Amino acid sequence: MSNKRTNIKVLGISGSPRIGNSSYLLSIALQAAQKVNNELVSIDSYSFKGKKFGPCVACFKCGEEKTYGECTIKDDFQKLRDKWLEADAIIYAVPVYHLSIPGQMKCFIDRLGNTVKKIRNVPAPKFMKTVGAIAQGMHFFAGQELTISFILHHAVLMNCIPVSGDGWQSYLGAAGWTEAQRDRDSIGKLYGASDRDANIAVQAAGSLGQRVTEMAFIIRQGIANVDTTFFPDKSYTPVLEI
Ligand SMILES: Cc1cc2nc3c(=O)[nH]c(=O)nc-3n(C[C@H](O)[C@H](O)[C@H](O)COP(=O)(O)O)c2cc1C
Repeated sequence: MSNKRTNIKVLGISGSPRIGNSSYLLSIALQAAQKVNNELVSIDSYSFKGKKFGPCVACFKCGEEKTYGECTIKDDFQKLRDKWLEADAIIYAVPVYHLSIPGQMKCFIDRLGNTVKKIRNVPAPKFMKTVGAIAQGMHFFAGQELTISFILHHAVLMNCIPVSGDGWQSYLGAAGWTEAQRDRDSIGKLYGASDRDANIAVQAAGSLGQRVTEMAFIIRQGIANVDTTFFPDKSYTPVLEI
């Protein structure tokens, strides 16, 4: 049953409702991801800008026999869910909103968690995607670490693999702040002006993109070599086949 696919699909998700600082740091991470291997890495990028994601209404239809896995609310959810399912590695870049992720993204995550609890008749699939988190806000010590932690907890709940960047710049993920500026390009401008904190955020985003991708390769190679006769747990089937 194991799968010899060697290419890696990296999906970058910007959780901001605008193209701004999150997109900027995400692009740094995605460039680093591409550099891991130009031929074998393909990059897809998604922005929440202009998208509609309604909240879960707890109808529990996604858990019923006939409608299993389908969300009754039809909006931008389905497209991003499909991208999420296809990816080997996911990098979330979000602005901190009220010490956490923006509401639109929480709507996506709530609905994702419930609707993909069974894939191709396999309950509790182990997705084994690598997941990295970038969070930046307007202020200092203003929820970046809490936001990154939330995303990494989401990764664990989805049976994925949380990955950080390298060194002291990136304990859990990549964090940044705009030094109280509201502009979309604040971090980019600060980086251009050799600002120390923006430099740390950029370094962390780069090493995060690299490590999330490298780890996805390692997992993919493992999948290619796993002998499923010693490995009867059906919950691994989706990732072994995709
Ligand atoms: C509703 C709302 C809540 C926010 N809450 C926080 C916060 O808790 N901490 C913080 O540092 N910045 C907060 N901010 C500021 C944004 O995180 C900041 O402007 C960020 O750089 C925006 O990223 P973007 O350019 O990717 O949209 C908030 C902004 C909005 C609109």
